[in-house]
Amino acid sequence: MYNDLNYRSLIVGTSTSIPLANGEFTTAINFDNAATTPPFVSVLNSINNFAPWYSSIHRGTGYKSRYSSEIYENSREAVASFVKADMDFNTIIFVKNTTEAINKLSFRLYKRYQDCVVLSTDMEHHSNDLPWRGKYKVDYVSINSSGKLSLVDLESKLKKYKGEVKLVTVSGASNVTGCKNPIHTIAALAHKYKAKILVDGAQLVPHSPVNMLPVNNPEHIDFLVFSAHKMYAPFGCGVLIAPKEYFASGAPEYSGGGTIDIVTHDYIKWAETPSRDEAGTPNIMGVVALTESIKTLSNLGMSNVEGYEKSLTEYAIHKLKDIGDLQFYGNSQNCNDKVSILPFNIKDLPHQVTATALSYEYGIAVRSGCFCAQPYVQKLLNISSKQMKRYMKYPDLPRPGLVRISFGLYNTCNEIDTLCVALANISKNKEHYYNKYRFALSEKD
Ligand SMILES: Cc1ncc(COP(=O)(O)O)c(C=O)c1O
Repeated sequence: MYNDLNYRSLIVGTSTSIPLANGEFTTAINFDNAATTPPFVSVLNSINNFAPWYSSIHRGTGYKSRYSSEIYENSREAVASFVKADMDFNTIIFVKNTTEAINKLSFRLYKRYQDCVVLSTDMEHHSNDLPWRGKYKVDYVSINSSGKLSLVDLESKLKKYKGEVKLVTVSGASNVTGCKNPIHTIAALAHKYKAKILVDGAQLVPHSPVNMLPVNNPEHIDFLVFSAHKMYAPFGCGVLIAPKEYFASGAPEYSGGGTIDIVTHDYIKWAETPSRDEAGTPNIMGVVALTESIKTLSNLGMSNVEGYEKSLTEYAIHKLKDIGDLQFYGNSQNCNDKVSILPFNIKDLPHQVTATALSYEYGIAVRSGCFCAQPYVQKLLNISSKQMKRYMKYPDLPRPGLVRISFGLYNTCNEIDTLCVALANISKNKEHYYNKYRFALSEKD
């Protein structure tokens, strides 16, 4: 079991000094890990170590090309074993990020499912909502008081659509509240009604053990997507895991180099999966980075990572309780079944002002706004559709939102103590900070 000091030494940039508004310097604190994480030291080393061997993948005959191709192809096994995906049944496609993975899947399913229903949820990131719109009939499963998908509403919608639902697409953990969905129970329900399940693992895979389960288990996950830059490997790589049969026929959404077997002016035979869906020169540096981050996380043990991050969240919730005027949202204060994300506001202070004051006065990076989940944040803030029409009509109005802190495995209780001092001070001196940082009100998310 690692303690927080061991974890901290695994990360690049934990002692970076940054300027404050008063001209002094302080060590940066990053509580915006849900957006992206800093790199592991091991990941940077792996990039440096691999660089002398870097060469073109798949088609070069040189030794370095053959070596690079082998590294690239073998990395799929590392990914599969990290989330217990069956490689005989599934294909593992490397993409840029979660957003690209979901768009790719949405494109791919269109031929089979174009007139069908896709059930999304009220808590999704825009990346697991917008790619489904316009192609499918999309409906949204509601969220219960525990901040999770309502199984009751899910089943009632599966029944209502009488077999028309072909996909249930759900975040493994919310990027707004951190609440985790019971993905295996959802999978069993979806399968019972002959639908498949996609888990958006962007917030889940970096923070919790994930097991897709064998395909003969009714609770198995059909499709899984995630991003390396949220798991300490920010080199532009993401993952789409899907049953091979879905990617075995039909044209890819991007065609070109690498995607074909035979081409003449009037004939195309597409390559086998996954090459068919990895158009152009692959991002091997990104894949090397992801593989190393998987190795580092596996050595730490995802249960240990989860346990440590949970202890940070418990500590933060306990300490933040003492600060006046903090409001939390979406059952985020319940530490069970969640990743370490906490959304809040200081009462009567716009989220933009709180976030900017934390940065300029204390060197603490947080995220504020709607976190690319506007419909969900509108719900959490009880914003009516009439109010939303005002924001549509007057786009320069300051937008509603929340402040979000999200921990990574390298954050510490000392950093949380600094946050608490900062928030207590901002909360006590709202007018002062409002006047100083009101320029941030025009920020949009
Ligand atoms: C739940 C969730 N899904 C999808 C995404 C999109 O990820 P990416 O920007 O890496 O494509 C994010 C990013 O924050 C996310 O939190």
